[in-house]
Amino acid sequence: MNKSTVLFFDSGMGGLSVYQEAKKLMPDNHYLYCFDNAGFPYSEKSEETIIQRTLYICKKINQDYPLDAIVIACNTASTVVLPPLREQFSIPIVGTVPAIKPAAEISQTKHIGLLATKGTVKRPYVNDLIHKFAAHCIVERLGSTKLVEIAEHKIQGKSVDLIALKNELSPWASIENLDTICLGCTHFPLIKDEIQICLPQVKNFMDPGFAIAKRLQFLLDKLEVRSKLEVKNQVFCTQDVENKHQLEQALALWGFDGITVLK
Ligand code: DGL
Repeated sequence: MNKSTVLFFDSGMGGLSVYQEAKKLMPDNHYLYCFDNAGFPYSEKSEETIIQRTLYICKKINQDYPLDAIVIACNTASTVVLPPLREQFSIPIVGTVPAIKPAAEISQTKHIGLLATKGTVKRPYVNDLIHKFAAHCIVERLGSTKLVEIAEHKIQGKSVDLIALKNELSPWASIENLDTICLGCTHFPLIKDEIQICLPQVKNFMDPGFAIAKRLQFLLDKLEVRSKLEVKNQVFCTQDVENKHQLEQALALWGFDGITVLK
């Protein structure tokens, strides 16, 4: 069977929450993961900066490792970068967008929350999603960069600062009928258990990871020609990382063999 080579891209480790669903569904593909640590966090970066960085990095990796598909495993980037990427690549480009529609459907109280980065919560793309699929709901929006940093630290082996987390989520603590939250940043599924501790009233956490993996599988199944690249599953980043060895060990548990800094 032909294997596909798929790049997962994020500013940090959050994209792993999407990658892990794809890996479960299609364990045999070649997976490359790139985190733009020189640009992290994307939360408050301008749209122009995010578009430029994402295009440059994806093109660079594709030159050395011809790709069959790219997953932008980052909501903040996906809200702005999908059209320009699709203009420049002929391979499937899969984006990550907050699961507003299923959240609005599953909520009993019709009072839902969008937890995302500061950029994502104010993008026109998200306004459209809410207008289209959740007009019958009260939709709270909470944009946070701190939460992204907390999740990033957790994956890098540091402990989660529950007090800081609680503080960040405090605007929602007293909303008793908030029963459903869209995890609108790929970092947040990685700290879902901790978010649940801070917001015990929440019954449903909506994470688009599995739906994205299914979409990727559908698109890859339709490919007639594949890159036929035989590469190890590996990680790229955009500047040196502090505890490289420690991070490589952590990423080995996710199935990756080594980190390379893109030059
Ligand atoms: N993981 C990214 C997202 O889904 C963004 C995190 C950041 O760099 O702010 O939005």
